[in-house]
Amino acid sequence: MANLTELLGIELPIVQAPMAGAQGSAMAIAVSNAGGLGSLPSAMLTADGLRKELELIKTQTSKPFNVNFFCHAAPVADTGRESAWRAALAPYYRRYGIDPAGIPTGPARAPFSAEFADVLEEYRPAVVSFHFGLPPARLLARVKSSRARIFSSATTVDEALWLEAHGVDVIIAQGVEAGGHRGMFLSDDLTTQVGTVALLPQIVRAVKLPVVAAGGIADAQGVAAAMMLGAAGVQVGTAYLLCPESSISAIHRAALKSEAARHTALTNLFTGRPARGIMNCLMRELGPINGGAPAFPLAAAAIAPLRAKAEAEGSGNFSPLWSGENATGCKEVPAAQLTRELAGGR
Ligand SMILES: Cc1cc2nc3c(=O)[nH]c(=O)nc-3n(C[C@H](O)[C@H](O)[C@H](O)COP(=O)(O)O)c2cc1C
Repeated sequence: MANLTELLGIELPIVQAPMAGAQGSAMAIAVSNAGGLGSLPSAMLTADGLRKELELIKTQTSKPFNVNFFCHAAPVADTGRESAWRAALAPYYRRYGIDPAGIPTGPARAPFSAEFADVLEEYRPAVVSFHFGLPPARLLARVKSSRARIFSSATTVDEALWLEAHGVDVIIAQGVEAGGHRGMFLSDDLTTQVGTVALLPQIVRAVKLPVVAAGGIADAQGVAAAMMLGAAGVQVGTAYLLCPESSISAIHRAALKSEAARHTALTNLFTGRPARGIMNCLMRELGPINGGAPAFPLAAAAIAPLRAKAEAEGSGNFSPLWSGENATGCKEVPAAQLTRELAGGR
Protein backbone atom coordinates (compact mmCIF):
# COMPACT_ATOMS: atom_id res chain seq x y z
CA MET A 1 0.00 0.00 0.00
CA ALA A 2 1.42 3.36 -1.03
CA ASN A 3 2.48 5.81 1.63
CA LEU A 4 0.86 9.21 1.39
CA THR A 5 4.21 10.93 0.93
CA GLU A 6 5.02 8.88 -2.18
CA LEU A 7 1.50 9.10 -3.53
CA LEU A 8 1.36 12.90 -3.35
CA GLY A 9 5.04 13.85 -3.48
CA ILE A 10 4.89 15.51 -0.06
CA GLU A 11 7.53 15.27 2.67
CA LEU A 12 5.47 14.42 5.75
CA PRO A 13 2.53 11.97 6.09
CA ILE A 14 0.49 14.62 7.90
CA VAL A 15 -2.83 15.92 6.52
CA GLN A 16 -4.12 19.02 8.30
CA ALA A 17 -7.83 18.27 8.58
CA PRO A 18 -10.12 20.67 6.72
CA MET A 19 -12.14 22.48 9.40
CA ALA A 20 -15.00 24.60 8.05
CA GLY A 21 -15.57 27.71 10.11
CA ALA A 22 -12.27 27.21 11.95
CA GLN A 23 -9.60 27.95 9.33
CA GLY A 24 -8.99 29.09 5.80
CA SER A 25 -6.18 29.46 3.31
CA ALA A 26 -3.60 30.72 5.86
CA MET A 27 -3.45 27.39 7.68
CA ALA A 28 -3.49 25.35 4.46
CA ILE A 29 -0.58 27.39 3.06
CA ALA A 30 1.47 27.06 6.27
CA VAL A 31 1.03 23.28 6.46
CA SER A 32 1.70 22.64 2.77
CA ASN A 33 4.82 24.80 2.88
CA ALA A 34 5.99 22.84 5.95
CA GLY A 35 5.82 19.58 3.93
CA GLY A 36 2.43 18.25 5.06
CA LEU A 37 -0.86 18.42 3.16
CA GLY A 38 -2.70 21.62 3.97
CA SER A 39 -6.48 21.62 3.52
CA LEU A 40 -8.98 24.30 2.59
CA PRO A 41 -12.54 23.62 3.83
CA SER A 42 -15.22 24.88 1.43
CA ALA A 43 -18.47 23.87 3.15
CA MET A 44 -19.10 27.43 4.34
CA LEU A 45 -17.79 29.23 1.23
CA THR A 46 -19.53 30.42 -1.92
CA ALA A 47 -17.92 29.64 -5.28
CA ASP A 48 -16.54 33.20 -5.33
CA GLY A 49 -15.23 32.86 -1.78
CA LEU A 50 -13.53 29.60 -2.78
CA ARG A 51 -11.93 31.29 -5.80
CA LYS A 52 -10.50 34.05 -3.56
CA GLU A 53 -9.03 31.52 -1.13
CA LEU A 54 -7.53 29.44 -3.95
CA GLU A 55 -5.99 32.57 -5.45
CA LEU A 56 -4.23 33.20 -2.11
CA ILE A 57 -3.03 29.59 -1.90
CA LYS A 58 -1.70 29.59 -5.46
CA THR A 59 0.34 32.73 -4.85
CA GLN A 60 1.82 31.48 -1.57
CA THR A 61 2.65 27.83 -2.17
CA SER A 62 3.61 25.61 -5.08
CA LYS A 63 3.17 22.49 -2.92
CA PRO A 64 0.23 20.04 -3.12
CA PHE A 65 -2.88 21.00 -1.13
CA ASN A 66 -6.37 19.65 -0.52
CA VAL A 67 -9.74 21.31 -1.11
CA ASN A 68 -12.58 19.81 0.93
CA PHE A 69 -16.35 19.73 0.37
CA PHE A 70 -19.42 18.39 2.09
CA CYS A 71 -21.63 16.33 -0.20
CA HIS A 72 -24.89 15.93 1.68
CA ALA A 73 -28.24 15.81 -0.12
CA ALA A 74 -29.91 19.22 -0.03
CA PRO A 75 -32.46 19.16 2.82
CA VAL A 76 -36.20 19.35 2.32
CA ALA A 77 -37.62 22.24 4.38
CA ASP A 78 -40.06 20.98 7.01
CA THR A 79 -42.00 23.90 8.48
CA GLY A 80 -43.75 21.75 11.11
CA ARG A 81 -40.47 20.43 12.47
CA GLU A 82 -38.86 23.87 12.30
CA SER A 83 -41.64 25.52 14.32
CA ALA A 84 -41.70 22.69 16.89
CA TRP A 85 -37.95 23.14 17.28
CA ARG A 86 -38.30 26.89 17.73
CA ALA A 87 -40.97 26.22 20.35
CA ALA A 88 -38.49 23.98 22.20
CA LEU A 89 -35.96 26.84 22.09
CA ALA A 90 -38.56 29.45 23.17
CA PRO A 91 -37.36 29.79 26.80
CA TYR A 92 -33.89 30.65 25.52
CA TYR A 93 -35.25 33.13 22.97
CA ARG A 94 -37.24 34.82 25.74
CA ARG A 95 -34.20 35.04 27.98
CA TYR A 96 -32.30 36.94 25.27
CA GLY A 97 -35.28 38.96 23.93
CA ILE A 98 -35.13 37.27 20.50
CA ASP A 99 -38.24 37.17 18.29
CA PRO A 100 -38.29 33.63 16.81
CA ALA A 101 -40.43 34.82 13.87
CA GLY A 102 -37.60 37.11 12.79
CA ILE A 103 -34.94 34.39 12.54
CA PRO A 104 -34.08 33.62 8.92
CA THR A 105 -34.18 29.96 7.84
CA GLY A 106 -32.00 28.31 5.22
CA PRO A 107 -28.83 26.29 4.93
CA ALA A 108 -25.51 27.60 6.28
CA ARG A 109 -23.46 24.92 4.55
CA ALA A 110 -23.59 24.08 0.84
CA PRO A 111 -22.89 20.69 -0.76
CA PHE A 112 -20.48 20.22 -3.68
CA SER A 113 -22.02 21.53 -6.91
CA ALA A 114 -21.31 22.18 -10.60
CA GLU A 115 -20.30 25.74 -9.65
CA PHE A 116 -17.64 24.44 -7.27
CA ALA A 117 -16.49 21.95 -9.94
CA ASP A 118 -15.96 24.91 -12.33
CA VAL A 119 -13.67 26.55 -9.77
CA LEU A 120 -11.70 23.32 -9.22
CA GLU A 121 -11.14 23.03 -12.97
CA GLU A 122 -9.55 26.48 -12.91
CA TYR A 123 -7.21 25.79 -9.98
CA ARG A 124 -6.60 22.01 -10.19
CA PRO A 125 -5.67 21.15 -6.60
CA ALA A 126 -3.67 17.93 -6.09
CA VAL A 127 -6.28 16.54 -3.69
CA VAL A 128 -10.05 16.99 -3.34
CA SER A 129 -11.62 15.47 -0.24
CA PHE A 130 -15.27 14.84 0.56
CA HIS A 131 -17.20 14.39 3.79
CA PHE A 132 -20.57 12.52 3.92
CA GLY A 133 -19.83 10.17 1.01
CA LEU A 134 -19.31 11.35 -2.55
CA PRO A 135 -21.06 13.79 -4.88
CA PRO A 136 -23.26 12.50 -7.75
CA ALA A 137 -21.30 10.44 -10.33
CA ARG A 138 -21.39 13.17 -13.01
CA LEU A 139 -19.79 15.72 -10.66
CA LEU A 140 -17.27 13.23 -9.30
CA ALA A 141 -16.21 12.39 -12.87
CA ARG A 142 -15.47 16.08 -13.47
CA VAL A 143 -13.21 16.22 -10.42
CA LYS A 144 -11.46 13.00 -11.39
CA SER A 145 -10.81 14.24 -14.89
CA SER A 146 -8.97 17.23 -13.40
CA ARG A 147 -6.56 14.52 -12.15
CA ALA A 148 -7.10 15.39 -8.48
CA ARG A 149 -6.70 12.50 -6.05
CA ILE A 150 -10.01 11.87 -4.34
CA PHE A 151 -10.15 11.36 -0.56
CA SER A 152 -13.30 10.65 1.44
CA SER A 153 -14.10 9.79 5.06
CA ALA A 154 -15.32 6.35 6.14
CA THR A 155 -16.63 5.79 9.66
CA THR A 156 -17.32 2.05 9.21
CA VAL A 157 -15.86 -0.83 7.19
CA ASP A 158 -19.00 -0.80 5.01
CA GLU A 159 -18.45 2.87 4.14
CA ALA A 160 -14.80 2.16 3.28
CA LEU A 161 -15.82 -0.68 0.91
CA TRP A 162 -18.49 1.57 -0.66
CA LEU A 163 -15.96 4.37 -1.23
CA GLU A 164 -13.47 1.92 -2.77
CA ALA A 165 -16.16 0.62 -5.12
CA HIS A 166 -17.07 4.19 -6.12
CA GLY A 167 -13.62 5.29 -7.21
CA VAL A 168 -11.87 7.14 -4.38
CA ASP A 169 -8.07 7.08 -4.25
CA VAL A 170 -7.59 7.36 -0.47
CA ILE A 171 -9.88 6.48 2.43
CA ILE A 172 -9.88 8.53 5.62
CA ALA A 173 -10.76 6.21 8.52
CA GLN A 174 -12.53 8.62 10.88
CA GLY A 175 -12.68 7.19 14.40
CA VAL A 176 -15.41 8.31 16.77
CA GLU A 177 -12.90 10.39 18.79
CA ALA A 178 -12.69 12.91 15.93
CA GLY A 179 -13.76 16.52 16.38
CA GLY A 180 -16.40 18.10 14.15
CA HIS A 181 -18.93 16.23 12.01
CA ARG A 182 -19.05 12.47 11.71
CA GLY A 183 -18.56 11.71 8.01
CA MET A 184 -21.12 8.87 8.26
CA PHE A 185 -23.26 8.42 5.15
CA LEU A 186 -24.55 4.83 4.84
CA SER A 187 -26.27 4.78 8.21
CA ASP A 188 -27.30 7.31 10.81
CA ASP A 189 -27.05 4.74 13.61
CA LEU A 190 -24.54 6.11 16.11
CA THR A 191 -23.95 2.63 17.56
CA THR A 192 -22.02 1.82 14.35
CA GLN A 193 -19.35 4.40 15.23
CA VAL A 194 -16.11 3.05 16.69
CA GLY A 195 -12.75 4.41 17.81
CA THR A 196 -9.71 4.89 15.57
CA VAL A 197 -7.68 2.01 17.02
CA ALA A 198 -10.55 -0.39 16.29
CA LEU A 199 -11.61 1.11 12.94
CA LEU A 200 -8.26 1.69 11.24
CA PRO A 201 -6.89 -1.89 11.16
CA GLN A 202 -10.29 -3.25 10.09
CA ILE A 203 -10.45 -0.84 7.15
CA VAL A 204 -6.79 -1.45 6.27
CA ARG A 205 -7.57 -5.17 6.09
CA ALA A 206 -10.77 -4.73 4.09
CA VAL A 207 -9.59 -2.42 1.27
CA LYS A 208 -6.66 -2.22 -1.13
CA LEU A 209 -6.46 1.58 -1.09
CA PRO A 210 -4.22 3.70 1.16
CA VAL A 211 -5.93 4.59 4.44
CA VAL A 212 -5.41 7.82 6.36
CA ALA A 213 -6.18 7.67 10.09
CA ALA A 214 -8.22 10.44 11.73
CA GLY A 215 -9.58 10.95 15.23
CA GLY A 216 -7.79 11.42 18.53
CA ILE A 217 -4.30 11.77 17.02
CA ALA A 218 -2.62 14.67 18.77
CA ASP A 219 1.15 14.10 18.92
CA ALA A 220 4.07 12.28 17.28
CA GLN A 221 3.43 9.13 19.32
CA GLY A 222 -0.17 9.04 18.12
CA VAL A 223 1.01 9.46 14.53
CA ALA A 224 3.55 6.63 14.97
CA ALA A 225 0.85 4.38 16.49
CA ALA A 226 -1.47 4.98 13.51
CA MET A 227 1.36 4.20 11.09
CA MET A 228 2.07 0.98 13.05
CA LEU A 229 -1.57 0.00 12.54
CA GLY A 230 -1.18 0.32 8.77
CA ALA A 231 -2.08 3.96 8.10
CA ALA A 232 -0.54 5.56 5.01
CA GLY A 233 -0.77 8.92 6.77
CA VAL A 234 -2.81 10.74 9.40
CA GLN A 235 -5.37 13.55 9.35
CA VAL A 236 -5.22 15.80 12.39
CA GLY A 237 -7.79 18.48 13.19
CA THR A 238 -8.26 19.40 16.84
CA ALA A 239 -4.53 19.80 17.57
CA TYR A 240 -4.38 22.68 15.04
CA LEU A 241 -7.17 24.70 16.64
CA LEU A 242 -4.95 26.87 18.87
CA CYS A 243 -2.44 27.70 16.12
CA PRO A 244 -2.36 31.40 15.18
CA GLU A 245 -3.70 30.47 11.71
CA SER A 246 -6.92 29.13 13.26
CA SER A 247 -9.92 31.47 13.08
CA ILE A 248 -11.93 30.12 16.04
CA SER A 249 -13.36 32.57 18.60
CA ALA A 250 -11.68 33.56 21.87
CA ILE A 251 -14.44 31.62 23.65
CA HIS A 252 -13.66 28.45 21.70
CA ARG A 253 -9.93 28.91 22.34
CA ALA A 254 -10.49 29.34 26.07
CA ALA A 255 -12.65 26.19 26.21
CA LEU A 256 -9.97 24.15 24.43
CA LYS A 257 -7.36 25.37 26.90
CA SER A 258 -9.53 24.56 29.93
CA GLU A 259 -10.46 21.36 31.71
CA ALA A 260 -13.83 21.56 29.93
CA ALA A 261 -12.10 20.10 26.85
CA ARG A 262 -11.86 16.75 28.63
CA HIS A 263 -15.61 16.28 28.18
CA THR A 264 -16.87 16.18 24.60
CA ALA A 265 -19.93 14.56 23.07
CA LEU A 266 -21.55 13.96 19.70
CA THR A 267 -24.36 16.43 19.22
CA ASN A 268 -26.83 17.24 16.43
CA LEU A 269 -28.13 20.44 18.03
CA PHE A 270 -25.97 22.88 16.10
CA THR A 271 -26.36 21.64 12.52
CA GLY A 272 -28.70 18.62 12.47
CA ARG A 273 -25.95 16.02 12.01
CA PRO A 274 -23.86 14.45 14.77
CA ALA A 275 -20.62 16.31 15.39
CA ARG A 276 -18.22 16.24 18.32
CA GLY A 277 -17.80 19.30 20.49
CA ILE A 278 -17.04 20.31 24.05
CA MET A 279 -20.05 19.79 26.32
CA ASN A 280 -21.91 23.05 27.03
CA CYS A 281 -25.19 24.30 28.46
CA LEU A 282 -27.35 23.70 25.37
CA MET A 283 -25.99 20.16 24.92
CA ARG A 284 -26.64 19.37 28.59
CA GLU A 285 -30.19 20.75 28.57
CA LEU A 286 -31.52 19.66 25.15
CA GLY A 287 -29.33 16.79 24.05
CA PRO A 288 -26.65 16.21 23.18
CA ILE A 289 -28.64 14.27 20.52
CA ASN A 290 -32.22 15.51 20.09
CA GLY A 291 -34.65 13.95 17.59
CA GLY A 292 -36.41 17.30 17.17
CA ALA A 293 -33.47 19.13 15.62
CA PRO A 294 -34.09 20.13 11.98
CA ALA A 295 -32.28 18.23 9.21
CA PHE A 296 -28.66 19.05 8.34
CA PRO A 297 -27.64 21.79 7.82
CA LEU A 298 -30.89 23.65 8.62
CA ALA A 299 -30.60 23.31 12.43
CA ALA A 300 -27.87 25.97 12.47
CA ALA A 301 -30.33 28.79 11.74
CA ALA A 302 -32.38 28.50 14.94
CA ILE A 303 -29.29 28.48 17.18
CA ALA A 304 -27.43 31.33 15.41
CA PRO A 305 -29.06 34.29 17.24
CA LEU A 306 -28.73 32.57 20.63
CA ARG A 307 -25.08 31.94 19.93
CA ALA A 308 -24.54 35.58 18.93
CA LYS A 309 -26.24 36.96 22.06
CA ALA A 310 -24.44 34.55 24.42
CA GLU A 311 -21.05 35.13 22.78
CA ALA A 312 -21.55 38.90 23.11
CA GLU A 313 -21.72 38.25 26.86
CA GLY A 314 -18.56 36.12 26.70
CA SER A 315 -20.45 32.81 27.02
CA GLY A 316 -20.08 29.66 24.92
CA ASN A 317 -23.37 28.20 26.24
CA PHE A 318 -24.91 28.15 22.73
CA SER A 319 -21.75 27.80 20.60
CA PRO A 320 -20.58 24.71 18.79
CA LEU A 321 -17.20 24.25 20.50
CA TRP A 322 -15.97 21.62 18.05
CA SER A 323 -13.23 19.44 19.46
CA GLY A 324 -12.13 15.83 19.34
CA GLU A 325 -11.79 13.69 22.45
CA ASN A 326 -8.06 14.39 22.61
CA ALA A 327 -7.34 18.12 22.87
CA THR A 328 -4.03 17.53 24.66
CA GLY A 329 -2.08 18.25 21.47
CA CYS A 330 -3.50 21.77 21.04
CA LYS A 331 -0.62 24.22 21.12
CA GLU A 332 -0.32 27.92 20.46
CA VAL A 333 2.47 27.43 17.95
CA PRO A 334 2.54 28.13 14.21
CA ALA A 335 0.85 25.41 12.14
CA ALA A 336 4.16 24.73 10.35
CA GLN A 337 5.87 23.95 13.65
CA LEU A 338 3.00 21.74 14.82
CA THR A 339 3.14 19.83 11.53
CA ARG A 340 6.85 19.13 11.95
CA GLU A 341 6.34 18.11 15.59
CA LEU A 342 3.56 15.69 14.63
CA ALA A 343 5.92 14.12 12.13
CA GLY A 344 8.43 13.52 14.93
CA GLY A 345 10.49 16.65 14.46
CA ARG A 346 11.68 15.69 10.99
C1 LIG B 1 -13.39 22.38 14.14
C2 LIG B 1 -13.51 21.21 13.21
C3 LIG B 1 -14.13 21.38 11.97
C4 LIG B 1 -14.18 20.32 11.05
N1 LIG B 1 -14.71 20.54 9.81
C5 LIG B 1 -14.56 19.59 8.86
C6 LIG B 1 -14.85 19.89 7.50
O1 LIG B 1 -15.23 21.02 7.14
N2 LIG B 1 -14.67 18.91 6.58
C7 LIG B 1 -14.21 17.66 6.92
O2 LIG B 1 -14.06 16.82 6.04
N3 LIG B 1 -13.93 17.35 8.21
C8 LIG B 1 -14.06 18.28 9.17
N4 LIG B 1 -13.71 18.00 10.47
C9 LIG B 1 -13.28 16.62 10.83
C10 LIG B 1 -11.81 16.38 10.46
O3 LIG B 1 -11.68 16.18 9.07
C11 LIG B 1 -11.19 15.15 11.15
O4 LIG B 1 -11.96 14.00 10.90
C12 LIG B 1 -11.00 15.30 12.64
O5 LIG B 1 -10.57 16.60 12.98
C13 LIG B 1 -9.95 14.31 13.13
O6 LIG B 1 -10.01 14.13 14.52
P1 LIG B 1 -9.27 15.09 15.59
O7 LIG B 1 -10.11 16.31 15.62
O8 LIG B 1 -9.34 14.28 16.84
O9 LIG B 1 -7.87 15.35 15.10
C14 LIG B 1 -13.65 19.03 11.41
C15 LIG B 1 -13.05 18.88 12.68
C16 LIG B 1 -12.95 19.93 13.57
C17 LIG B 1 -12.26 19.73 14.89
